[in-house]
Amino acid sequence: MFDYTTVPDRRGKDAIAIDIPELNGFVIDDVLKPEFDRLPMWVADMNFVVPTCITDRMSERLAHPSFGYYSVRAEYYEAIANWHRTRHGITDITKDAIGYENGLLGGLVSSLKVLLPHGGKVLLHTPAYIGFTHVLKDNHYDIIGSELIKDADGRWQMDLADMEEKIKMEDIKAAVFCSPHNPTGRVWNREELEAAAALFEKYGVTVISDEIWSDLILFGNQHIPFASVSEYAHENTVELYAPSKTFNLAGLVGSYHIIYGKELRNRIEAYEAATSYNHMNVLSMYALMGAYSEEGAAWVDGLLKILEENVRIALEALQAVQGISVEQPEGTYMLFLDCKEYCAQHHLTLDELLKKGMEVGVLWQDGRPFGGTHTIRLNLASPTQRIEEAFRRLKQHVF
Ligand SMILES: Cc1ncc(COP(=O)(O)O)c(C=O)c1O
Repeated sequence: MFDYTTVPDRRGKDAIAIDIPELNGFVIDDVLKPEFDRLPMWVADMNFVVPTCITDRMSERLAHPSFGYYSVRAEYYEAIANWHRTRHGITDITKDAIGYENGLLGGLVSSLKVLLPHGGKVLLHTPAYIGFTHVLKDNHYDIIGSELIKDADGRWQMDLADMEEKIKMEDIKAAVFCSPHNPTGRVWNREELEAAAALFEKYGVTVISDEIWSDLILFGNQHIPFASVSEYAHENTVELYAPSKTFNLAGLVGSYHIIYGKELRNRIEAYEAATSYNHMNVLSMYALMGAYSEEGAAWVDGLLKILEENVRIALEALQAVQGISVEQPEGTYMLFLDCKEYCAQHHLTLDELLKKGMEVGVLWQDGRPFGGTHTIRLNLASPTQRIEEAFRRLKQHVF
């Protein structure tokens, strides 16, 4: 019923994924061998065509050629509440709790400006999504990193003792929490979320919970919204969501917050209203209503099967390479490879390894800005035949 095999030709169509001139410090055209095309496997967007439930709603609105000032439709709020009810079992989302955010990172910065108007310390797990590091630094917040650690099974875990120590020592009052976690692919379970929430409650930490990946959950795992794990979390969390990762709509910009705590919400909404920057685009509203529909949900269910297959293919190929360490992600479509041993065994620097991949068109991403000394982040959100092609090339020419 849905099309997960067409490879959209994104060249010349404004997509940084494919048309970026430089990546990982190399000019792509200088390193790419002429017999290979580009396989975009870096920035977190997808190489699938979006379902027609989205484009139909946008076309319907475009057919009415008038784009004056508009008000947000009741259907927009209902679509969001219904999505979270049917996908995550959350039943108490009211219209009031929902607010548009001009990009998830925009919502994160606005929230911090309210929580810590004079700057200050923010707790962040590392490795961390580079968008967090950039916006926190650019807005002069001090990042207090708490490292995720791998347990004996290679599973990334929060280090609660370290988090507590840092919250206490540094007198931290705000945390940026990423759930599911990019780049490690962890989907935090209830026990872990409750433990984190108890810690935040003990020290009065307000949580900005980035749940942009919450629809892309693999292999039977389950996303649990942070605000649902305790009374304290319910009243003291800014949850941030978007249909952008789920449906490949980042170019339309259409994130939103869910904030149950009335006082917290009023403060953030007042701040945002005063900036006058935070207004939704009418087409992005129609895109969200099309996406958060029954057909959209069925499309996501099908997509998850493809992503799981892609993960299996990638892991089988990578686990056969001695010296590469990689865990099966529980969510997202990203792999986070640790190539330290491999580089040592083959007397390669990470830059040399990145370049070898790029020579054969594998546009993977330097993982060091996320964390680690020899890491690579690899995006698997492409039709399966392209993922197979990537691993054929890596096997033949790189590893
Ligand atoms: C964890 C996380 N948050 C936020 C974003 C970006 O969100 P937006 O484009 O809505 O600012 C990304 C994109 O990769 C992400 O991985």
